[in-house]
Amino acid sequence: MGDRVTVSVIKADIGSVAGHSRPHPKMMTKCADILRDGVKGGTIDDFYVTRVGDDVNLYMTHSRGENDKTVHGLAWEAFQSATKEAKQMKLYAAGQDILTDAFSGNVRGAGPGAAEIEFTERGSEPLLFFMADKTEPSSFSLPLTRIFMDPFTTTGLVIDPRAHLGFKFEIVDVCDSKKIVMCAPEESYDILSILGDTTRYAIKRVMSRIDNIGVAAVVSTEKLNLAAGKYVGKDDPVMVVRCQSGLPAVGEVLQPFMFPQLVAGWMRGSHHGAWYPCSVEDSDPSYFDGPPRIVCLGFQISNGKFQGLEDPESPPGIHTPIDYFAGSVWNEARRRATKVSIYIRGHGPFMPGILSPEEMEYTTRPSVLGKLKERMEDIE
Ligand code: 13P
Ligand code: 13P
Ligand code: MG
Ligand code: MG
Repeated sequence: MGDRVTVSVIKADIGSVAGHSRPHPKMMTKCADILRDGVKGGTIDDFYVTRVGDDVNLYMTHSRGENDKTVHGLAWEAFQSATKEAKQMKLYAAGQDILTDAFSGNVRGAGPGAAEIEFTERGSEPLLFFMADKTEPSSFSLPLTRIFMDPFTTTGLVIDPRAHLGFKFEIVDVCDSKKIVMCAPEESYDILSILGDTTRYAIKRVMSRIDNIGVAAVVSTEKLNLAAGKYVGKDDPVMVVRCQSGLPAVGEVLQPFMFPQLVAGWMRGSHHGAWYPCSVEDSDPSYFDGPPRIVCLGFQISNGKFQGLEDPESPPGIHTPIDYFAGSVWNEARRRATKVSIYIRGHGPFMPGILSPEEMEYTTRPSVLGKLKERMEDIE
């Protein structure tokens, strides 16, 4: 057993080329420059800068724990610097997720999303980083319940003695700003009974029931918490999952993404579309601002640093993860996601093509209803 390490993924949409498509490479370079300084200054130990669609993702390792002011401050600085670059180029929605000019010590609630996980490094520590564009955190509830609760997905729940003990789920209630920890397998049906309502409930964390393993998965849900009482949740979530040795295997974690699940978001954050597993390179929205993309990168965490396919002696920030959904086996899921997305688009501005009225990110309904009020007559 090694030392405690914290892996922080902090993400923001701070502007992109041609609508909500792709951040400019100069923005990525600016972020990397700031994070490199962060390594030199001792704030973080290592980093990797990537993106999904128009969302910039900063992966960082450090030993400062979750919600650390210095680490969040560094990410904020990186986003500010990249926003400046985006504004100079007049990119679309430059600074979109930097909702406040003053950094208050923590990005939670300030616009960026964060998924952070602190653990004691095991003998080997494989991590998967999921990044979704044009959808919401509760989209991860279906795959997470399959991974950690469903023995027909994760055979490890049946045949690995540690996974066999089940998992704990921390679930947030967006509308009431409450959270609860529930246990599987004994409360499986109750867990599914509430998570099925993706407009209100989302998984924040999954924990192993083995003390020395700890947190297994974490999802960025901060904007949901902030928005108690009002649903404004399409904040393009990220999720980090630890794998193997008492936890689901990498392949068990990837498997549910073969199902092209219908998720809320897509065009104007107001439609249902089938999410599309793909590489980082293929994650530019290409059809009706979508379909919503889901990307998965894999790294080992080794002595508090990222280890991908590069030389172990490479400088911090220079990494080559495995891009899991790039492979041809995922063509089948992409083909189905495209078909389903074309099908649901056929509904145009009708439900379930569009979301329910409370979930729409854009609406003219109040003003239209206001205008028509006088003309509305009672039906006798
Ligand atoms: P290996 O025997 O190749 O380590 O694989 C075990 C495993 O967990 C496969 O999912
Ligand atoms: P993003 O949330 O990815 O910026 O997309 C917004 C949108 O309206 C796409 O149509
Ligand atoms: Mg955008
Ligand atoms: Mg986005």
